[in-house]
Amino acid sequence: MSNSYSLMIHGGAGALEDLKHEASEAVFQESITAILERGRQRLERGDSALDVVEYCASLLEDDRLYNAGKGSVLNADGKVEMDAALMDGRDLRAGAVAGLKGIKNPISLARRVLEHGEHVLLMGDGALEFAKFCQIDTYPDDYFITEARIKQLAEVQVTGGMTLDHERVKPSQKLGTIGAVARDIHGNLAAATSTGGLVNKRWGRVGDTPIVGAGVFADNDTCAVSATGYGEQFLRTVFAKTISDFVQFRGMDAQAAAQAGIDYLVAKVNGEGGAIVIDAAGRCAAAQSTSGLIRGWIELGGETHCKLG
Ligand code: GLY
Repeated sequence: MSNSYSLMIHGGAGALEDLKHEASEAVFQESITAILERGRQRLERGDSALDVVEYCASLLEDDRLYNAGKGSVLNADGKVEMDAALMDGRDLRAGAVAGLKGIKNPISLARRVLEHGEHVLLMGDGALEFAKFCQIDTYPDDYFITEARIKQLAEVQVTGGMTLDHERVKPSQKLGTIGAVARDIHGNLAAATSTGGLVNKRWGRVGDTPIVGAGVFADNDTCAVSATGYGEQFLRTVFAKTISDFVQFRGMDAQAAAQAGIDYLVAKVNGEGGAIVIDAAGRCAAAQSTSGLIRGWIELGGETHCKLG
């Protein structure tokens, strides 16, 4: 087995034209490349895949370009409610938070849930109380909310109404989420996913991101997966675990499994979104049913790549 590392991150899926509308291709490329290089340094020095996916996800959360942490989309009440999860492929330990308000890096709170070990998923006020227990500070609303997100919500509320349902999701809504998957030099896999969810979502709505097996999954025997897209469809198809099952039970590699997962998502629920995958051999792959998927990768210690389409 190779002792080289691999790292892949994504910044959300959506209509390519809309992704480009939010910022230039160069701006996304610069951000993705910089985050990958910082992740590379940590993997090169032997850090665990779990540490590195948390680190890269937190950098993506801190960048207002993406729908996670700072820059999260707004729900129907004009508030930010975030979901995040991460999973360790060594032992299937996982930590997740849902409906979270005011925490700068939801992925790091999810990590604390994982380390604490008692539970896998904490939500809402209970998650905030746990943050207090962990001495993690809360941030004011204006840290998270950007002018662009206020404008976006107003547009969606005019065209899409007050509620969100399958038929009313417009292709112009960026299906944003961020995520990271990694294989470290010891051969261990991990995955992390974080999001502000869908624009104009109902208060209290939880998507696929914090649900192990839907928006995130990692198992050293198969692969690490982070998904992005219209969460209800990813929940209904147990999407990330389905990709892992393609590796486990059909013997597929990362690319074949990612594509088979998307084919299944489209065939079953006409799903919109994408996934990034690293398999146990360190092969990086992505597949999507949307025209855009912002992503970058380093396969087996090689060059840094970035792609938006
Ligand atoms: N995939 C992110 C969400 O639907 O919340």
